[in-house]
Amino acid sequence: MAVLEHLTSQQAIDLENKYGAHNYHPLPVVLSRGEGVYVWDVEGKKYYDFLSAYSAVNQGHCHPKIVGAMVEQAKTLTLTSRAFYNDMLGKYEKYATETFGFDKLLPMNTGAEAVETALKVCRRWAYQKKGIPENQAKVIVCENNFHGRTTTIISFSNDEVARKNYGPYTEGFVKIEYDNLTALENALKSNPHVAGFLVEPIQGEAGVYVPSEGYLKKAKALCEKYNVLFIADEVQTGIARTGKMLAVDHEDVKPDILILGKALSGGVYPVSGVLANDEIMEVITPGSHGSTFGGNPVAAAVSTAALEVIKEENLAHNAQELGELFREELNKFIPSCDLVVKVRGKGLLNAIVINDTEESSTAWDICMALKENGLLAKPTHGNIIRFAPPLVMNRGQLMDCVSIIIKTLQDFSK
Ligand SMILES: Cc1ncc(COP(=O)(O)O)c(C=O)c1O
Repeated sequence: MAVLEHLTSQQAIDLENKYGAHNYHPLPVVLSRGEGVYVWDVEGKKYYDFLSAYSAVNQGHCHPKIVGAMVEQAKTLTLTSRAFYNDMLGKYEKYATETFGFDKLLPMNTGAEAVETALKVCRRWAYQKKGIPENQAKVIVCENNFHGRTTTIISFSNDEVARKNYGPYTEGFVKIEYDNLTALENALKSNPHVAGFLVEPIQGEAGVYVPSEGYLKKAKALCEKYNVLFIADEVQTGIARTGKMLAVDHEDVKPDILILGKALSGGVYPVSGVLANDEIMEVITPGSHGSTFGGNPVAAAVSTAALEVIKEENLAHNAQELGELFREELNKFIPSCDLVVKVRGKGLLNAIVINDTEESSTAWDICMALKENGLLAKPTHGNIIRFAPPLVMNRGQLMDCVSIIIKTLQDFSK
């Protein structure tokens, strides 16, 4: 079968099932085109995308400016490796560091790589600057975290599906309850060798858990008190998703290390990065870390365009306004519906909690019904559905989506 032959949805699904590893459980929809807030399946049915590739497509599908930058750069120079300089990376690093207010950027490709990079930077800083004895540095992490899939990262996950039978695990992590400042202070007090605190400003995969107001600011202050690096994983929450450029901006918190990915490229290309100031980033020296593709000219061009789109189209403001509207509309509806317990979120990163157990298939079944009604979303657990549309959505489209969601929930509860 030629790769370019037109397939039906079922044929495409069968091929993936037969020839691909089964590491995902996708909704049975086969997409072949995207534009803005819409995607189309191979049979031509149109859907609202309410997942945005886990918040990677914040700028909307196939944004012409970002795709244009990619095509242009791909025709000119794609990859040099960092064995040589290229004429795009420095310009991009200047733009990205000025955008986020840090001295330096360390470019990588995927979110997990950026988290690994941040952990390495943090450990080096601990040994070289803080004076922690070698191999004794600890990083505090939160329960129910999601930071990616590498062996080290799953070592401190408490998702048994993600962890089981992948041991032995990497040491050096202390797990505390999320949104619990007493737990954080106790961990800082009782472990003399803490190097960093790694935290998601909103726990996305866990089900869009928004911590109490002031948590991030007070956590940062505790980190300062104990000379520990505050590491914000904004892979999912960053790049305007929550109504500000970064989710930490809601509390005016400046992380010591910032981790970005996903929408840093508008979902067009794998681009991630770690930002920090010189006194931290200078622990990275030639040969001590690297990536063949990290900082390649296409990534630099794409990411620059992706960040420009966020600013030019005022997407943080749009996310803030539409997010408020979304929660307001759902909050009007929820009291009349036994099926939904609550809606929560910030900006356009939201979730509804279904009146059922975590192990139930109710959220999945609702997502199947939403699909039939022209809207694609995915459960994060058996009873939680995340709603994260591209940020280029307009009010009319959002209200249309709210109607689809409400109608689907009403039909479902009958
Ligand atoms: C907070 C957070 N960190 C890291 C990652 C990992 O990113 P990637 O899948 O690009 O490795 C994700 C992915 O969902 C994430 O949500």
